[in-house]
Amino acid sequence: MSRDSTEKDTRILRANAAAIADAGEVLRAGGLAAFPTETVYGLGARADDPHAVAALYAAKGRPSFNPLIAHVASLAAAKRLGSFPDAALNLADKFWPGPLTIVVKATSNESVCELARAGLDTVAVRVPSHEVARALLAAVDFAIVAPSANRSGHVSPTTAQHVADDLGGKLDIILDGGPSQGGIESTIVDFSGGTPRLLRSGGIARNEIENFTGPLAAANKDEVSAPGMMASHYAPKAKLRLDASGANASEAYLAFGPIPAAAQDAKKIMNLSSGGNLTEAAANLYAYLRALDASSVEGIAIAPIPGEGLGEAIRDRLARAAAPK
Ligand code: TXA
Ligand code: MG
Repeated sequence: MSRDSTEKDTRILRANAAAIADAGEVLRAGGLAAFPTETVYGLGARADDPHAVAALYAAKGRPSFNPLIAHVASLAAAKRLGSFPDAALNLADKFWPGPLTIVVKATSNESVCELARAGLDTVAVRVPSHEVARALLAAVDFAIVAPSANRSGHVSPTTAQHVADDLGGKLDIILDGGPSQGGIESTIVDFSGGTPRLLRSGGIARNEIENFTGPLAAANKDEVSAPGMMASHYAPKAKLRLDASGANASEAYLAFGPIPAAAQDAKKIMNLSSGGNLTEAAANLYAYLRALDASSVEGIAIAPIPGEGLGEAIRDRLARAAAPK
């Protein structure tokens, strides 16, 4: 790909203390720094700087009607951004730091700028648990908005190399903290309305959340602002075939559990989890989709994944990855 004059020199740095301090400086000055979280890598910008946020949308090619998640160091910092009802506080207490994003009414128009909220009167907030993300948040005195650090619509990144492959030349620093352990984005629960709604299934399974909130209402399918509502998302180039009990010779097979005889002819086989473990499958999902896509197969046939626990989020992402573009 040819470099144009607007390209940046992207530095990939091992995420030690000096590199984290550098990334904090880059963000403070309005630049873009990618960092690991326990779910996927995020592309960070300071949340209170509309110019930095505009550059972030441009770097990802993300439509600016799709709002961003503000990352903060603590519940105390989160409370400065929005108004948390008791039920939201209970959930935050239980799952933060961790892969949970909470949507509440925004109480500050500046801390997370209007552009980052896509003009909504709500704000999505999360306290990540990854130690590099925590150190970065501790080094700055603003919230960091961070969508997944992929080209808009593409598969989310779980390594620094994935970020470089998608966005190299478009950001200043990539902090390399090794592969993300969770592998699937945060669960998003919306408390801005009355009853809590599940806007996106993710790294914390629905039943774990419902233990605290009671039954979660579904997201409104017509709402553009609701996350992941765009049908085609998380998409590789190859055509995906879901719930496939086998594969033909022009396809790759992404297995879950024992590999069926009907998949033996596949061009390439990878196994999300040979023991049928959903946590392991979530952690491998995006890296394996990228790897199979890079092996230039026409299609990827994917084994049936059970829908319980983390399987709900895995199936959701696969359905979006398979949707017509
Ligand atoms: O695990 C994660 O959440 C990762 C890491 C980097 O933290 N981030 C992530 O960000 O997945 P992103 O931008 O790829 O997805 C955020 C989703 C979007 O689908 C967006 O529509 C939704 O959050 N969102 C953000 N603010 C919202 C709001 N105020 N109301 C409803 N949805 C919101
Ligand atoms: Mg994303």
